[in-house]
Amino acid sequence: MNNMTEQHSVTAAEAAVTQNSETAQESLVQIDDLYKKFSISGDFLDQLKFKGGKLVREQEHVHAINGVSLEVMRGEALCVVGESGCGKSTVARTVMGLLKPSAGSVSYQGERIDNLNDRQLMPYRRKMQMIFQNPYASLNPRMTIQETLMEPVALHNPNWNATEVRDKVHEVMFSVGIDPSWGERYSHEFSGGQRQRISIARALAVDPEFIVADEPISALDVSIQAQVLNLLMDAQEQRNLTYLFITHDLSVVEHFGTRVAVMYLGTLCELAPTRTLFAKPRHPYTQALMSAIPRLEDDRPQHIKLTGEVPTPVNLPSGCVFHGRCPYANDRCKQQIPQLITTDEGGQVACHAVEEGRI
Ligand SMILES: Nc1ncnc2c1ncn2[C@@H]1O[C@H](COP(=O)(O)OP(=O)(O)OP(=O)(O)O)[C@@H](O)[C@H]1O
Ligand code: SF4
Ligand SMILES: [Mg+2]
Repeated sequence: MNNMTEQHSVTAAEAAVTQNSETAQESLVQIDDLYKKFSISGDFLDQLKFKGGKLVREQEHVHAINGVSLEVMRGEALCVVGESGCGKSTVARTVMGLLKPSAGSVSYQGERIDNLNDRQLMPYRRKMQMIFQNPYASLNPRMTIQETLMEPVALHNPNWNATEVRDKVHEVMFSVGIDPSWGERYSHEFSGGQRQRISIARALAVDPEFIVADEPISALDVSIQAQVLNLLMDAQEQRNLTYLFITHDLSVVEHFGTRVAVMYLGTLCELAPTRTLFAKPRHPYTQALMSAIPRLEDDRPQHIKLTGEVPTPVNLPSGCVFHGRCPYANDRCKQQIPQLITTDEGGQVACHAVEEGRI
């Protein structure tokens, strides 16, 4: 991503911030103390075990999200970063209503949406759209591009006639750089980058206000990642969109996000405006992630090599989930879960050492 046009990117990120201040920081999506665990014990019979001569039922769970609270402000691009398996996609899917939380809630403009049924979710399905990592899997191979794009437009605008639907489809195809005259073609006739453009067009076709993008450029060739990222930023500016943008790649975030949320093992370590996070990362995990980004400057901090294995989310460590790999861990870290505190720089960080002034 280093060859990305920085000028363009910074301008778009700044535009989002300006827009944010104009709309007085309206909270659009609220994630409150969210937990999600998945059972990995199979069906009822698989769960039965003989122990001490008795038949007992044992259930094991993957604790994918463990008490995450986040607020997405209107007009911003809130990026969620972290290593594979830290729970990013689970957050994305739970926000979109594709997964039910085990505990906690998701609200849209203050209205709780995680407990709604499909019919009640319909108006939100129009306002909230999702773009997935893999444009090969997310487009139906048996439908033409035109059919793929007409379906959601017609569904969410039952009063529109065929011409109005087609005009809308042409408008979004044009805006994502796909020639509307290609509408009769099937998705397999397009390249990966073009397919992701079509997925973006499908999300934009219903005029959403909030888009969850789960690693939307990771499956694409490096040479076209920047183009698709620029397309997303242009769409944000032109259509007043708000993004929850999931990525494992911090270097993408630097050019794209308004704020960054760093996750580790299903918990939120740090949340800060992008510039603050890059200028002064506070959480030891954020510092380690940051030090791994290749940079040209000589004065960058030494690469922090984390020792130890990433623990499994089946048996979560006690206290701070990062304590087994953290160079600053002490006894308190092994026992007590750190809570988010607000820093002088305007971010939030969950770390005992920061709170105690040790780092
Ligand atoms: N349906 C499921 N059943 C069981 N475990 C699951 C399920 N979905 C996710 N998990 C587990 O939950 C944890 C979080 O997964 P998730 O996909 O949210 O991580 P991620 O941060 O998106 O990772 P990646 O960067 O690889 O996409 C992982 O340990 C994963 O194996
Ligand atoms: S709470 Fe302790 S173990 Fe966790 S990141 Fe801070 S210093 Fe490290
Ligand atoms: Mg994922």
